[in-house]
Amino acid sequence: MNIVIFGPPGAGKGTQANNLVKEFNLNKVSTGDLLRKEIKKKTKLGIDIENIINKGKLVSDEIINKLLENISSKKENHNRLIFDGYPRKLSQVKNLDKMLNKHNQKISCVLSLNVNLDIVIKRILGREICSECGLTFNKFFNPANKENHKCDSKFLQKRTDDNEEIVKNRYDTYSKETLPILKYYQNQNLLYEIEGKGEIATIYEEIRRIIRSLETWLYNV
Ligand code: AP5
Ligand code: MG
Repeated sequence: MNIVIFGPPGAGKGTQANNLVKEFNLNKVSTGDLLRKEIKKKTKLGIDIENIINKGKLVSDEIINKLLENISSKKENHNRLIFDGYPRKLSQVKNLDKMLNKHNQKISCVLSLNVNLDIVIKRILGREICSECGLTFNKFFNPANKENHKCDSKFLQKRTDDNEEIVKNRYDTYSKETLPILKYYQNQNLLYEIEGKGEIATIYEEIRRIIRSLETWLYNV
């Protein structure tokens, strides 16, 4: 099964994708994470990427395609991919289909998390990521504590694009460029819309229910 997890910034794509990875033994492909890895290298490409991300705009398809090269050809990824934050525009939708087709695979479902701008802003302003273990927390909704986090709190960091002004730009980019692609998946009967404003565990229950309902072909598609 190959899954796309879809939604605006702060919708919980990464959080819910990680839950699915654990339970269903999937491999996550987050284009945002791949881009941030490139930024960390401090190369010319990394600096260019950072400038675009910090404006809340989309990085070019050329860069994204390069980052995704070879992903679907890997044996361990065969029918085990969960895409987080990809595709984000029609050209990427087409490219993803092409990439999967080449290896006799397809998208099994698109899980779209619906949340409004007010929720997005609050979640994003509260987000903290541990630079040591990579876990994501939230100051307001899911704070790091001794039970859920082993590293020192000094490692908790904010993303450079997590401020109110950039978030509004990111949300705007999402509404104009990304949201329209849902029609494509809806026409293919692959779309599952999920209310994303509840608690993390409640939303995951709904996601799990959908995945289980598709389970008959979980390992056969
Ligand atoms: P990306 O990293 O993908 O960012 P995004 O889409 O803006 O989404 P986020 O990662 O901010 O949010 P999320 O939905 O993963 O939420 P999370 O689970 O962390 O992309 C960054 C940038 O890279 C883009 O703006 C663009 O420039 C570029 N880019 C990436 N992909 C691209 C592509 N394909 N093409 C072109 N450019 C691309 O949750 C957020 C917070 O809320 C956390 O603190 C979490 O703990 C908390 N939380 C989660 N769920 C809940 C809940 N139900 N209740 C309360 N709190 C919750
Ligand atoms: Mg994310």
